[in-house]
This record gives sequence, C-alpha cells and structure tokens, in this order.
Amino acid sequence: MQVRILGSAAGGGFPQWNCHCEPCEAARTGVRARPRTQSSLAIRGDEGAWFLVNASPDARQQLEALAPQQPDGVRAPPVAGVLLTDAEIDHTAGLLLLRESATPVRVFGDAGIERALRDGYPILAMLEHYCGAIWHTLEPDRPTPLEGSSLVVEAFAVGGDAPLYMNGSGIELEASGFVFRDRAGGGVVTYVPGLARLDEGVLARFAASDLVLVDGTFWRDDELAALGISARTASDMGHIALSGPGGTLAALAQLERPRKALIHINNTNPILLEDSAERQAVLRAGVEIAHDGLEFSL
Ligand code: MLT
Ligand code: MN
Ligand code: ZN
Repeated sequence: MQVRILGSAAGGGFPQWNCHCEPCEAARTGVRARPRTQSSLAIRGDEGAWFLVNASPDARQQLEALAPQQPDGVRAPPVAGVLLTDAEIDHTAGLLLLRESATPVRVFGDAGIERALRDGYPILAMLEHYCGAIWHTLEPDRPTPLEGSSLVVEAFAVGGDAPLYMNGSGIELEASGFVFRDRAGGGVVTYVPGLARLDEGVLARFAASDLVLVDGTFWRDDELAALGISARTASDMGHIALSGPGGTLAALAQLERPRKALIHINNTNPILLEDSAERQAVLRAGVEIAHDGLEFSL
C-alpha cells in the first residue's frame, strides 16, 4: 500500500489568504515554516489505481503530482474515485474541479454526506451537467472493496457536527474516519482528519493499525479565541485539541504499534513553526507532523 499526503493543512491552507497570525507570516517568508495545501490524501493498494481521499480546493495542483508516467490515452484520470470523510467545503470543493473528467466521477461516502451534497451544497447535481457523478454509499463499520483495486475501505463515525452551510436544516451529521486494508500487500492505514470523539472504539482501531493519520487541527481548544479570530472552540468545530490531559497527543503517545502522523493542521497551530516548543512536544511523543508530499509505503 502506498499513501501520499497531498495536502496537510486544514481549511484555508497555510498561509491562509487573509491571515496574519505568526505561523502564516512565517510560511510567507518560508524561513520558520513551510507552506501547505488543504487537506487531501492519495492512496493505492499494491494492485490497482490511486484513489483520492477528500477533494480539496487545491485539487488541481495536488492531482498533478499523481499524473501517470504512461497515460492510457489523451485524457486519463490520475485517480479511480474520490472518498469523502465529511461534506465540509475544504474536503468537497475540489469535486467541482474534476468536471473536465471524460467519465462520471465515482464518489464514496456515508449517507449523510450524500444528503449534504444534494441538499445543502448541491455539487452532485451540478456535476450532472458536466461529467456526471456516480454516488457509492459507504455503510459505517462495513468493509467495502474498492472496484479495480486491492484496497478495502471501512468508514466509522468519529463525532462532530454538520457543515455550517447545513445550519437550520435540522439534519445531524457526523464525520467519518476510514480504515484502509490492502488485500494484495497487507497493511492497515487509519485516516481521521476530523476527530471529535476519541472513545475506546476509535482507540482500538488506531492500536490495530500500521499507520494512523490523525486530526492535528488545533493545539489548544481556545486557539482561535486567544487570537481574537473567532469565539468557536476546537470542539465546537468538531476537533479535539492536541494538548492537555484529554488531548489527542497524550492518546497517540500511548500507542505502540502504529506509525503516527498529524494531518489537517490549521494555520494558527504553533506546531507548524519549525522552532516551536509545541512542535518539539509532538516529536517527543513519537508523533510526526505531516507535510505535503510525505509518502508512506506499507
Ligand atoms: C473543519 O475541518 O472543521 C471545517 O473544514 C471547518 C471549515 O472549513 O469551515
Ligand atoms: Mn476541515
Ligand atoms: Zn494564520
């Protein structure tokens, strides 16, 4: 199995266009921090094509990195389908950028995501007027083989709330994590860019993985409030903060089997600064901080 981090930042990217927080300014100079594109992953089994996991607003340049060496025809897509962990704009806006596809785009996600993308942010209906989209519902906790690939994916609920554009709809949504297994080469990868509930079930999935790619959005729960940017806390936004006794870092530090890396890192998070104490604390806990282009072979 091969995994490539296409984008390691959270929504807004790094630096974010309107932000002058310390990490964003550092990313602009490129001295103490390296820029990152928005949250997305590519994965493939030992047999079969790449799949895109989350379609970010930066998908155009991210997919360029997957361009086949020997394309099968003039128009040859670099991925065989798109899997979605949630319906947030930073994970779905890239679907519109796939409209030049010569064939309908295959999109996988749970029933709640489909609902959001039909009712709240009707991307699936819009794509019908371009390339078309074929929706595949992933039932939670049920391993699903991906056609044309040795990969099997299993979605599981990780808490969180519906995207802001669904406010007032009365519809409740939870984000998913994915476990990928490769029937050809073995290996277990768990990917959770939005983690709101770190319960025994989620921890057991992490402990049984070879690689976990985990929500590293915020260092502190009140990170945005402390900068005067927003009153919303990390938990209001569906993310458990890294630091503190109930934080993700303490839980990850306990895991022995998997290699561990943080993804979906918000531009305000001090772990993005190469010389920060927070970054050192993450590395000391045996956890890596992903950057764009980071690859894992299992
Ligand atoms: C999130 O990860 O919480 C969302 O992407 C936030 C957003 O972009 O509004
Ligand atoms: Mn996000
Ligand atoms: Zn910023």
